[in-house]
Amino acid sequence: MAKLWGGRFSKSTDTLVDDFNSSIRFDARMYAQDIKGSQAHAEMLGRQGIIPEADAELIVKTLDEIKADIENNKVEFEIDAEDIHMNIETILISRIGDVGKRLHTGRSRNDQVALDIRMYLRDEIDEILSDIEDLKSVILNISEKHLETVMPGYTHLQKAQPITFAHHLMAYYEMLRRDSERLTDCRKRLNVMPLGSGALAGTTYDLDRDFVAEKLGFDSVTQNSLDGVSDRDFVLELAFDLSTVMMHLSRLSEEIILWSSHEFKFIELDDAYSTGSSIMPQKKNPDVAELVRGKTGRVYGDLIGLFTVMKGIPLAYNKDMQEDKEQIFDAVDTIKMCLPVFSKMLATMTVNKDAMLTGAKGGFTNATDVADYLVKHGLPFRDAHAVVGRMVAYCIEKDKVIDSLTIEEFKSFSALFDDDIYEEISLTACVNQRKLTGGPAVETVRAVIEKYKNN
Ligand code: ARG
Repeated sequence: MAKLWGGRFSKSTDTLVDDFNSSIRFDARMYAQDIKGSQAHAEMLGRQGIIPEADAELIVKTLDEIKADIENNKVEFEIDAEDIHMNIETILISRIGDVGKRLHTGRSRNDQVALDIRMYLRDEIDEILSDIEDLKSVILNISEKHLETVMPGYTHLQKAQPITFAHHLMAYYEMLRRDSERLTDCRKRLNVMPLGSGALAGTTYDLDRDFVAEKLGFDSVTQNSLDGVSDRDFVLELAFDLSTVMMHLSRLSEEIILWSSHEFKFIELDDAYSTGSSIMPQKKNPDVAELVRGKTGRVYGDLIGLFTVMKGIPLAYNKDMQEDKEQIFDAVDTIKMCLPVFSKMLATMTVNKDAMLTGAKGGFTNATDVADYLVKHGLPFRDAHAVVGRMVAYCIEKDKVIDSLTIEEFKSFSALFDDDIYEEISLTACVNQRKLTGGPAVETVRAVIEKYKNN
């Protein structure tokens, strides 16, 4: 096929080069954005009198037909037409000849691809944001039901202090809220219209960049043509934001994997969201959570890959930048696969309250509260810490928990202990006395949930 840029060449490209150079295998997915962008450009060229209005109208109409044909599988893209931009332009010219040849006036593939990728990722961000919203409501629903489900909280994966399952899950809600904010923020920075940057130095035509921006839903236009064609910060920023979402999903996945183990038994995953073993008949494996954890590495890989592609590129456009697409598409596809299945896995799991409570009873999770009791009766905290440390050592030796000590035993460690100690260090008291903003107390977490439900 003759190249649209073939004028100065006396030989056609080697088929190996065609194949190597081509991005149509992975950028065909931007066809709708490419067509929309071209339609806005054509309409603007017509309004500005740069091409005849009738030509602009025919271009817009034919592009609509091409779009319908693509969607009905009637179009075969050609490797040697290189990318989605030239494939669509080639088809346009094959249908309306000279009129089609006017479309690329005042435009370069460099600003065209910068436009398309922005529009494409903008749409993907919107979908991902809605998937995150779904996950957030799943978390809110489960949390509402488990405001009073006491479980051990951990540090260093050692039992630390009692919390509730609602409090634990709502920590992830906070992370996801920030993830949404980050993505929304990234969308703002991405939503700047680059057409008019030309190949690198703008164009001599009197383009109406604001018209195109407005037509395509952009907030503003790029202010430097070199930057307009060579900025991929927004791709990197998105890859970072997606990596952070994945990191959050991965941490919760790790907990789900632990919690569903025989050793913890805090939760059981639904059969529909678990898998079996080809050899061990008894097995029920948390594959979904494991895969989410595994795929996190893949998204990090995309982020690092993108950074590496961009680090040594002189201004302005260089073909290296074509390598941005597979990586960011992979990151986007991965997260769009993970979020819905993760939400469903969470929504269908069963929570074993008894195992959580039993877990919270062991491991001296109320030791801090015993120390606080002494502090409230006048002992400096460091001294109280030392007293309770000795009590814990005593309990370990006698194979007891603090609550099971007799009042005489308590008093042998400090005269400040009284009968009310048992009540003061019960797990519910431990949880509900932590009622500062951010704490696990039932009423505190309930208030947070209510606040989020109402906005
Ligand atoms: N397929 C190219 C990309 O993804 C489009 C821009 C090509 N521009 C050029 N001058 N070769 O980056």
